[in-house]
Amino acid sequence: MLKGRNLIDPMDFTLEELEEVFQLADKIIENPAKYSKVCEGKLLATLFYEPSTRTRLSFEAAMLRLGGRVLGFSDANSSSVAKGESLGDTIRTVGCYADIIAIRHPKEGSARVASMYSQIPVINAGDGGHQHPTQTLTDLLTIRNVKGEFSNHVIGLCGDLKFGRTVHSLVKALSRYKNNKFILISPDELKIPDYIKEEILKKNNTEFEEVERLEDVIDQLDILYMTRVQKERFFNEAEYIRLKDSYILDAQKMRMAKEDMIILHPLPRVNEIATEIDSDPRAYYFKQAKFGMYVRMALISKLLGVC
Ligand code: NCD
Repeated sequence: MLKGRNLIDPMDFTLEELEEVFQLADKIIENPAKYSKVCEGKLLATLFYEPSTRTRLSFEAAMLRLGGRVLGFSDANSSSVAKGESLGDTIRTVGCYADIIAIRHPKEGSARVASMYSQIPVINAGDGGHQHPTQTLTDLLTIRNVKGEFSNHVIGLCGDLKFGRTVHSLVKALSRYKNNKFILISPDELKIPDYIKEEILKKNNTEFEEVERLEDVIDQLDILYMTRVQKERFFNEAEYIRLKDSYILDAQKMRMAKEDMIILHPLPRVNEIATEIDSDPRAYYFKQAKFGMYVRMALISKLLGVC
C-alpha cells in the first residue's frame, strides 16, 4: 500500500511496490486522458531550495496533467527561510495547505527530516549530493521500456560519481536486480563514495569495477549513464575547472559502442555529451525526461491513493 507513504530513498519501496508504480506509469502513457482528472481538488507543494528545471517542472506538469494543482517556491530566498524559519516549521505550515510535498534541498538528509515533521506524503526531489529517488524512477522506467528488464545489464556510470546523487540512487536501485555489473568511470577525485561500495555493492554481491578511461570500456556497455561534474558541490573552483571536462562523449567514442547500447543522462548537460550525439538513435536522454513526467504522475497518484 503506497497511499500516505514518503519516497525519500530508493530503498523505501519494495520491488513489488516499484513494479506497481511502473505498471501505472505504463497505463498512463497508453491512455493519459483516462487519468486527467484523478487528482482534481488535490494540491502539490513544490519546495525547491536549489535550482531545477526538469524535476520541478516535471512534478508540476505531472500534477497538472492529473487534474490537480500546484503551489510552492523555486527560490528559498523568496520564502520565510530568508527570515530564518526552520525546515520543520515550513513543512508543518505547508502541510496545512497542500496534500503532498516534493522537496529539493542542498543539505543531505533534509528530505528525511522534512518527512519526520510532515503529516502529508513527502517526496525527495534531491537532497544535496545524497539521493534523488524520482530521477531513479525516471531512469528505471526508461530502461524498462527500452531494454525490457532491469537485470542482466552492464551499466557504465561516467563522470561525477562522488557528488552525483542520481548515480547513488541508481546504483542502489539497480543492485537489487540480478546479474547486473557496474563499470564506474571517473577520475580518481570523483570516485563513488565508499558507503555505496561497502553497503550496497559488496553487500548485494554486485559485480563492479572502477576505471578512469571511458574508451577502454565503452564496447562492453549495455547502458551508459553520463553525468555532469557537480559544480555547486565543489569547495574549490580551480578543482572544478580542472575536472569539468574529464569526459566528452562524441561520435568517435560512440563508434566503439554496441549497436544497442543506450545513453542516458539525468540532464542538465554541460559539455559531457557532444551535441552531435543527439541524433544518434542510441541517445535516450530527452525521451528519458518525458518518462520522468509519466513516472511522477504514477507516483503522485499512488501516494495520494487515487489510483
Ligand atoms: C540532476 C540533479 O539535480 O541531481 N538533475 C535532475 O534532477 N534531472 C542531475 C544534475 O543536476 O546534474
